[in-house]
Amino acid sequence: MNFKGKVVIVTGSSSGIGLACAKKFTALGANVVIASRTEERIKAIADELSCKGVSCLAIRTDVTIELECKNLIEKTVEKYGKIDILINNAGISMRALFDEVEISVLRKVMDVNFWGTVYCTKYALPYIQKSKGAIIGISSIAGFHGLPGRTGYSASKFAMQGFLESVRIENMKKGVQVLILAAGFTSSNIRKSALDAHGNPQGETPLPEDRLTPPERVADNLIRSIRKNKRNRIMTTEGQLMVFLQRIIPLLVDNTIYKKFRKEVQSPLKD
Ligand SMILES: NC(=O)c1ccc[n+]([C@@H]2O[C@H](COP(=O)([O-])OP(=O)(O)OC[C@H]3O[C@@H](n4cnc5c(N)ncnc54)[C@H](OP(=O)(O)O)[C@@H]3O)[C@@H](O)[C@H]2O)c1
Repeated sequence: MNFKGKVVIVTGSSSGIGLACAKKFTALGANVVIASRTEERIKAIADELSCKGVSCLAIRTDVTIELECKNLIEKTVEKYGKIDILINNAGISMRALFDEVEISVLRKVMDVNFWGTVYCTKYALPYIQKSKGAIIGISSIAGFHGLPGRTGYSASKFAMQGFLESVRIENMKKGVQVLILAAGFTSSNIRKSALDAHGNPQGETPLPEDRLTPPERVADNLIRSIRKNKRNRIMTTEGQLMVFLQRIIPLLVDNTIYKKFRKEVQSPLKD
């Protein structure tokens, strides 16, 4: 796919993977719609990226609110007359054991990661069918195997993947590409904003962010995967191995995951 002149919506594009995608797509000549909750920040990003000869539009959107997602799609079509690619990227995480976490935390995570994807996809789909474009879900290994301390996050990514797979099959004769891209541990804000047992951002990351995958690499992978018309892309070898092995030796996979997450700084897992 040549991205020049294409209209690309990126939800959650004020930081991390979403921001990297917005930059890469504008560099390729696409018109990018920047959507997240922080209006000033997305306006500044849109201004900065628009300078480079492409048009960017900032639309303040909280993806947990259906009407705001509808507005995002309507305003995009009002300005550009079409939509080619929707990147469902907005996401939050959590970190707490299920027996300690408040249920409202799981609801919040589902609202952003799952319902946000459902709302945006619902309103964008007719336009994407028309343009024979692409719908993307930014997922995680947590969408293939439950991760400890991440019940709500894993559930939301499993739900998102199941939803998008169904949408893919429903649209397989309509020329719509549905791509699920599972990123590995990527340097971003996601762990700092992850909700604790009581729904407060944990404020710090348990991982050495500067040694994780840069978000630009995820954006490059995404662009390659769209061009190759891929359906699923698991970015890391560790993730690919896990998905393969979980069918053959599930207990070993569970034990390995336990050990890995037990070693995290201030892990909620206790032996
Ligand atoms: N980083 C990783 O290791 C990793 C690994 C696998 C998958 N992922 C996935 O990658 C995606 C992007 O995450 P990231 O790592 O780039 O994290 P990030 O830096 O925290 O970015 C998250 C983005 O989502 C937006 N957002 C959060 N709640 C929102 C809401 N209610 N409505 C609209 N936008 C909202 C945030 O913007 P505002 O706060 O301005 O609204 C921000 O732009 C997520 O879906 C995440 O699950 C990340």
